Order: sequence, then C-alpha cells, then structure tokens
Amino acid sequence: MATPADRLWTNARLATMAGEGLGAVDRGAVAAAGDTIVYAGPAQDAPDAAEIIDCLGRWITPGLIDCHTHLVHAGNRAREFELRLAGASYEEIARAGGGILSTVEATRAATVEELVASALPRLDQLTGEGVTTVEIKSGYGLTLADEIKMLRAAHLLGWAGRGVMTVRTLLAAHAVPPEYRDDPEGYVDLICQAIIPAARREAHAVDAYCEGIGFTLAQVDRIFAAAREHGLGVRMHAEQLSNMHGAALAARHGALSADHLEHLDAEGVAAMAAAGTVAVLLPGAFYFTRETKLPPVQALRDAGVPIAVASDCNPGTSPMASILLAVNMGATLFRLTVDECLLGVTRNAARALGLGHLIGTIEPGKLCNLAIWDVEAPAELAYRIGANPLHARVFRGI
Ligand code: NIG
Ligand code: FE
Repeated sequence: MATPADRLWTNARLATMAGEGLGAVDRGAVAAAGDTIVYAGPAQDAPDAAEIIDCLGRWITPGLIDCHTHLVHAGNRAREFELRLAGASYEEIARAGGGILSTVEATRAATVEELVASALPRLDQLTGEGVTTVEIKSGYGLTLADEIKMLRAAHLLGWAGRGVMTVRTLLAAHAVPPEYRDDPEGYVDLICQAIIPAARREAHAVDAYCEGIGFTLAQVDRIFAAAREHGLGVRMHAEQLSNMHGAALAARHGALSADHLEHLDAEGVAAMAAAGTVAVLLPGAFYFTRETKLPPVQALRDAGVPIAVASDCNPGTSPMASILLAVNMGATLFRLTVDECLLGVTRNAARALGLGHLIGTIEPGKLCNLAIWDVEAPAELAYRIGANPLHARVFRGI
C-alpha cells in the first residue's frame, strides 16, 4: 500500500536524475506529502492524492540548481566591457584597480535593501527558468560588515516570496581590498580571525579566489584551515587564468567543489577524483572573457569527477542570469553531453553545495522541487539559445 499524498503530478515523463543517465521514466508520476517527495516512478503504481495535476505528457526534472553565482552586487561593469573590447585584458584592468574592486566600491556604498532590490530581477530571471536553489557568494564587501551585509541580502532573497532557496558562501578572499594593498597577509589574518568566525552562522561554505590577481596557495591554505575549524565547507575559484595548483589544495581540504578549472592539470584531476570534489564548469565566464583554454573535460570524465555547470552570474566575467544559457554553452563550448549538462544543474550541483541528501534528484525523501517543461525531449533544454520552455515550477511541494 503506497503512502498517501497531498499532491500528485501524473501523465508525465520524468528525468529523475537518479540512477543511470537521466533516470528517465516514460509514463511517470511524482507524489508529495507536504514539501517532500513520497513517490516517483511509473504512474500506474502512484499513490492516491488529494490533488491531481495532469501534466499532459510534459517532462519533469528536479528544480534546477545554480550552484555558483555572485548574484548580489551593486552597479555594473559595462565600461570595463568597453575597455576589454578595445584590447585591455581582465587581469590588466584588475591590476589597475578596476575589475572586482570597482564592484567592491559600489557594493560598499549600497544598503542591504538596495542590494536585495538590485538582485531581484536577476533572481527572477533564474527562477523563471526553473531554478529552485541558487548559491550566492559574498566577495564584493571585503570588510567584516560589508561581507555580512552581502550575506544578509542573499538570505533575504530567499524570503522575498520568490519560492527559491538561497545557499550562501563567504568569498571574503575574492580580492585584496585597497586598504590592505600593502599588507595582504594582514587581510588574510582578518578573514581567518574575524570574518570567518562572524560568518559562521551566515554562510554554508567558504570560497577563495586562488590566482595571481587573487590569493596565493599558502594564503588559501590558511583560509581553508580556518573555515574547517569553524565547521564550514570549502570551495575554490581554481585555475581560471593560470595553473596555481589550487584544485589539488582544495581537494586536500576535502573541498565540496573547485570551480572554473580551464588550466587544471592531470594531478589536479586525480586529487579531485580522490577527494570527491565536484568540478563546477562556468562556460559563461569562458565565453565572456574570450578564454581559449578549455577545461580538461575528458580527463574529468575518465577520472569519474562529478561535473556541475553554473551561470557564475557576476558583473565582471559572466553578466548572465540564465541557467539554460549556461547549459547550452556547456554543450556547445565545452562539448559536454546533454546528460552531463542536465546532471550538472541538478544532481551534481546539489553535491557541489553539500546538499545531495536534500535536493537535485526526484526521489522519495528529497524536497519536492520540480521544473515542468514544454519539451518533447530533455535535449531541447540544451539545444535552443535564449528560449525558455518552462511550463511550471514546484517549490517545496507547491
Ligand atoms: O567567477 N574570478 C573571480 N571571480 C569572478 C569574477 C568576479 C568579477 O570580475 O567581478 C568569477 O569569474
Ligand atoms: Fe565566480
């Protein structure tokens, strides 16, 4: 006798993302009791429910997960875009005090309310494409108060009536702020001794930008040690512009993910595989910075490293609030298969957030977050550019 349910979505085709491939069920149904899935499988075996929704043969996937964004920030960098079109590089602009630091100036000047208001249209774009969970990083505050302000804005976005869960990551180690230009170690001390302890209840994980224009391996090592002491997970912006061997360090700290990875080498791949660290690929940043070095996708596959795909929505390198465009670019630019792209914004994205037990697949016991699509086949979600076939979204069973 099946468990009684509140709601049943039936006459659907399911991509459960559980088991082999997309875990497809042809004539399928999903049932929820409260906010939790109690059944996913053949429609003929589904339990009775108080409310029955006929999906008319549409496809259902888990609610999509954007596992790497900088959604909260003030201002934009259109002027910097023009400079880059005229020949300046991202690194040159950063070294001249522009880039991330220009967004820091604007973000420091903004209130929590202003940050929420400016992020809402970007959040609405993501949820409009079936996103039910979005990770949001700090990293444009770079003082204790401004980093906490960003994390609070990210928290409030989850309570803005949009039906989305926000997962917050502390990225105080995004750039050395101007007031510490001559004392980067002093800023790392501040992160370890003050910002991480204060952010403990605000963030789920600590991220760091390990790069020539960011933080050294030794500095990130200290930051990750402090994060772990405070019970926080760690993630890294690794090997984006050069091979800093950051991914291997991240793996040694048991990182949830290492992200970007265009310059990742074989050693880094092996370390990530051994640690179960997810590779989060960010094709929007690759495209927008006109990067030519491809991440080592085949080596990641061969080693069995789980691959996720995210928007990296940020004002400097990926001004893109579209998870479906990220999926399309993952396929066209990185040659990921459709299955890899879709697992990358569901099951593997959940794992990159340390939330694989709660979201990312359609299975009993998981939160009932669903996206219902007007498509004939899942490949259509990766194939079209700028199209949005979302029919409906379900967040926590509603
Ligand atoms: O994910 N690489 C560092 N961080 C961001 C860019 C942030 C910015 O330029 O504002 C990224 O690409
Ligand atoms: Fe990023």
